[in-house]
Order: sequence, then C-alpha cells, then structure tokens
Amino acid sequence: MYEKVWKQDKIAFGGDYNPEQWDESVWEEDMRLFSLAHIDTVTLNVFSWAALQPDEDTYCFEKLDRIMEMVRAHGLKVVLATSTGAHPAWMARKYPEILRTEANGMRRKFGGRHNSCPNSAVYRKYSVRLAEKLARRYASYDNLVAWHISNEYGGECYCENCERAFRQWLKERYGSLDALNRAWNTAFWGHTFYDWEEIVLPNYLSEHFGEERTMFQGISLDYRRFNSDSILECFKLEYEAVKTYTPDLPVTTNLMGFYKLLDYKKWAGYMDVVSWDCYPSNDNSPAQIAMCHDLMRGIKGGRPFLLMEQTPSVTNWQPYNALKRPGVMRLWSYQAVAHGADSVMFFQMRRSIGACEKYHGAVIDHVGNEHTRVFREVAELGGELERLGGAVLGTRCPKQAAILFDWENWWGIEYSAGPSCLLRYGDEIERYYSALRALNIGVDFIGPEDDISEYGVVFAPVLYMVKPGLAAKLEEYVARGGCFATTFFSGYVDEHDLVKTGGYPGELRKLLGIWVEESDALPEGVKNHFTWKGTRHEATLLCDLLHTEGAQALAAYEEDFYAGMPVVTRHSYGKGTAYYVAARSDEDFYRAFAAELADLAGITPVADTPEDVEAVVRENETERYLFLLNHAKGERQVAAQEAGTELLSGREVKKGEVLTLPGYGVAIMKMKEVMTV
Ligand code: GLA
Ligand code: ZN
Repeated sequence: MYEKVWKQDKIAFGGDYNPEQWDESVWEEDMRLFSLAHIDTVTLNVFSWAALQPDEDTYCFEKLDRIMEMVRAHGLKVVLATSTGAHPAWMARKYPEILRTEANGMRRKFGGRHNSCPNSAVYRKYSVRLAEKLARRYASYDNLVAWHISNEYGGECYCENCERAFRQWLKERYGSLDALNRAWNTAFWGHTFYDWEEIVLPNYLSEHFGEERTMFQGISLDYRRFNSDSILECFKLEYEAVKTYTPDLPVTTNLMGFYKLLDYKKWAGYMDVVSWDCYPSNDNSPAQIAMCHDLMRGIKGGRPFLLMEQTPSVTNWQPYNALKRPGVMRLWSYQAVAHGADSVMFFQMRRSIGACEKYHGAVIDHVGNEHTRVFREVAELGGELERLGGAVLGTRCPKQAAILFDWENWWGIEYSAGPSCLLRYGDEIERYYSALRALNIGVDFIGPEDDISEYGVVFAPVLYMVKPGLAAKLEEYVARGGCFATTFFSGYVDEHDLVKTGGYPGELRKLLGIWVEESDALPEGVKNHFTWKGTRHEATLLCDLLHTEGAQALAAYEEDFYAGMPVVTRHSYGKGTAYYVAARSDEDFYRAFAAELADLAGITPVADTPEDVEAVVRENETERYLFLLNHAKGERQVAAQEAGTELLSGREVKKGEVLTLPGYGVAIMKMKEVMTV
C-alpha cells in the first residue's frame, strides 16, 4: 500500500527549467551548475506550444530533442510538460473561438496564459494532438519519470461555446427541465425555464452582481461544477493521449492548494499523483502552509505528492516580495516532505530576462554563477537530500484527526446571500486545523465520500451543505464510538443549495441533539462571550440561538438577549459523542477544544515540542520518521521521547536526550521502534 511516486531512489530535487528562453551556449553552463547543486530532475517544456507548432500543419521538435538529449546525457530525470497551458498566437488569430470570455462578457484577445476556452473543440483537438506527439516521440526515454499536463489549470470561461456545453451538461445532470426548475427553485422571481435554450450562463450579464455574488445560488453552483468538469475534461483527454504511449508513467498536473474554482477532490480521482505549487505569502503562518500540504495529500487519500514548484528565494507577484531568510527555504522544503512530499522542486532553474517573471527567484540568478546565497542554500539542500537517499520515500502520515473539506460546500457557503459577509469557509477550517497542528496532531483532509472509520475524531467546520448519505455516515461513525464536531451554519442545505425544512441543522439535528432556531451575525469587532472549563472565551461572527434536544450544554452566552442559551454542546450518540460549537471563538478555545476531543478519542500527539517547533510523522510498516521543524528565528530545544537516529547529522539519539534545533533548524529522527501513534 505504500507506493513511491515513480521508481525513485531519493527525494526528487530540481524544478522548472526553460532552456528554450536561452542561447544554446548557456545550456552547458546550466548542466555544470545543476550538477553542483545536486539537481536530478527537471520539468521541461511547460510553455513551448508556439515553438513546437509554428502553424497549423507544422511541428518542430528539434530543439526539444536537443534539450532532451542533453539532460539525459547529464543524468537528469525529466518531468515532461505538454505545453498546453498557453496557446499559440496564430491559433488565436485563426480560431478566435479558443479565446476565453470573462464574467463581464468581455471577449479576450490573444495574451497571457491559461487562456484557452476549455470547451473549444479546436483547443481540445490541438492540445490532445500535441500531447500525443510528445508522448510518441519521447516514450522511449528511460529518464522520463512523469507527465505534467498543461500548467496550473484554472479560471473560467463564459463564451458561447461554454453556454452551449453548459446546457448539455445540465441535460445530462437533470434529465428534464422539471427537475432542473425544482433544483434551482426557479419559481422564485419568475425564473421558470420552458426550453433549454432559455438558460444562459450566470455572470454579470445575468445573475451575478459583484465579486462572487449571485441571485440564484443553484445556477451559479452548477456553473462552478460545470466549469471545473469542463477543464477537467481537457486534462482527461491529454491524460488518455499520453497514456496510450507511456501507460506506466505517472501523469499529473500542478495544482494550487486551496484553489477555489476547481474541485480538486474530484480532479485527484483522475490524476496518478498529485503535484502542487507552494507559494506562501509573506505573512502566512507555518500552520497555513502545512494546511495546504495536508489538503494536497488528502485529496488523493493520503498518498505522497510532489512539491512541483516553490521559489528558492522570492516571488515577484506579491505586493512585497520578501526574501526567504537564510534557512527558510530548507525548512519549508522539509516541511513539505514531512507532510507527504516525495520531491522538492523549484520554479525556476534560471531567472529569465524578459517579461513579468524576470524578478522571480531562481536557482541561478541574473549574475549567472554559483556564488550567490540562494544557489549555495539550494546546493546544500541538494547534497543533504542526496545523503538522505531513499529514507521517507513512499511513507504516509498516520491517521489521527480528520477535517472534512468539500469544494461544493465552499462554493455554497460563499455564494450565500447572508448571514454574514465575514464568513469564509477557509478561515473557519484554518482555526480548527491550526489548533490541531499546534498540538502536533496529524490531520488528514477528507471529502464527504471518504471513509472516516479509522479516524479518532472528525471535525467538519461549517458543514453547510450536507450531501446525500453524509448524515447517515456520520451517525454510524459516532454510534460506533467516533467523535465528531461541527459548527454554526451547518446542515442547512442539500447539494442544490435548497434548504432542508424542519429545523436547522437539518439532517444533522438528530446526531447533534440540538435545534438551531435563529442565528445572529455580529459585525466586525462585536463580541459575545462564554466560559468553558473556567476560561472566558469570545463568541463572534455568527451566534446561533439553539435549544438542546438530548445534547448537554457545556457553555452559555453571557451577553445580549440570548444570554444563557447554549453555545457549546455535547451529545452522546450510541458509543460516541457529537459536539456543536455555535459561534466562532478564539485561539485559546480552539486549542483547548481540540485537546479535549483528541483526548477523548485517545489520540496522542506525535511529540511534545515548544510552541514554534512543528512535529510531523511519516511512517510505514517498518519505518517511522519524526520531523522536527523549528519555525522560530532562535534556537529551540526538544527532548527526544524515543530513541532513534537523527538522519541529517547521522547522530544516535537516546531517549530523553535533548536536541537543540538552531533557528529555522530541522531534525529528522528515524525512530528505533515502529509503533503506530
Ligand atoms: C506558477 C506557475 C509558474 C510560475 C510561478 C511563479 O506556479 O506554474 O509558471 O509562473 O507560478 O510564482
Ligand atoms: Zn468558453
């Protein structure tokens, strides 16, 4: 069950390499520098469509052949991209239908990237043809390790092609206009459709009126599903094309963490391996970065993923592009590995000289040699990963706590008109995640259709949309002894965003043993309070006014006309327990609450560490690795709770011995005893 991403013997190290932007005279120098930096894997051909196909009938692969030959001769492995993330200018001129139309109806001209209409027959035909030609041509290269389809798929299109395809998609989903009219509740505002042709895309010309605001949630939700499916279809077509020639090579496309527009959980089902591009903002906390890695691992059932891109130093697209401090690139690389990455790859190998990414960080800077801080740090990490060898590869993070995360729920919550403009799904997820992270409890992100039986505790913050079968699954899980927690704005609607009548939280009411009668949205800065286990906490954002129906009230509001009503409840259900948190609270509450539930579920933190030191485990049947990641600028000390070998120094560590981690330092303990936590 513990599989490697490809036949790897070490963590892959390298990244996006764009020799096509350079004279061939530079290539040999690149090879020298790569070898100095211990780079073993390059992602090639990400944006070369225009070069590979100068016109409709001509393909020229000679330059790519030379690049492929050169990197093979230098012992480099290749992740080969299909180049379909940006179409050629001639194609846009000849076939304007491949251009996207924006939400305001503006039809784009050629420019930018990630710019093709996903429902354009021309785009599909030529993208698949290119993928096929590449696969046929390079199938025999034994250093080819994976396919990288397109690049960071995303965005939306509102063109007429897409409108026609949307109607078709709806026919398949609903079968009849009656069913569609019911699902969208079109009796509201006289929207009844009598002919499929009457249906138009929901955008600023129709149902939308502001950033992510819609007058018909049902229509807008279906458009999101349709758009995600349309783009996925492009991926699937290229996937099939390359698989015909290289059935055994893993196929991926680089994802973007919490990217809202594509239902990655669904996408992951069609990808052999998940890969993703990690670009934290300057102010992201270590837990926020960890959360993205865990989500990317979670969408593929916990399998190892590839860190396809990160910057070795700076980005160029943030308002302030701060440098990664010495040691931080290394620390974040190991953080990715700790959370399940079997590669450490960068964007980009050599800093380009023109257009918008010329000031984006790279392994080789404009100065063009190895004498830079960034190059030295990359090379040192490369050497270290070489020494680590096959350790960690293919291992998994243990199943401890789970957080339920669902893209359609995300769309539903944030399309909702009311109750509060401050309500953001990701923010609420993050509050629970960060609390678990701070306790060094492993977190898996799971979807509504995943098996939850092996988790000690399942958190489902803001489970607004309860899809068919989910409530029954949660009931069964708790009845058998599981521990479940959810929050305000849960259990309201079905998958069409239609309210379940009969009292909130709808289908979750029985499991939680409560009835939510009303919900009060508090403007920014306004707070209610409650006291739980002797500590006073805040209640903000949304405050549910609820009645217990079998649940026990653990804390009550202290202010306003609903003072005395329950804010935290616990319901014994079968052999297990279901908790409800009726308002947003503060960090102290989330930590105490997570600790209480973990304790109840019998979950032991993977290690006991000071505040800034993150501890994460990867393991399989025979090996167990504990990563200790010091996110602080200053030194921290951690007492080893078990004996083991610290792999980066090769030092034997006794039980109880104190490890000193320098600022931004990392230790990887290979434990002597393998025992599942
Ligand atoms: C993305 C893209 C890359 C590059 C980087 C810059 O991840 O995939 O091509 O643009 O961003 O940060
Ligand atoms: Zn379109």
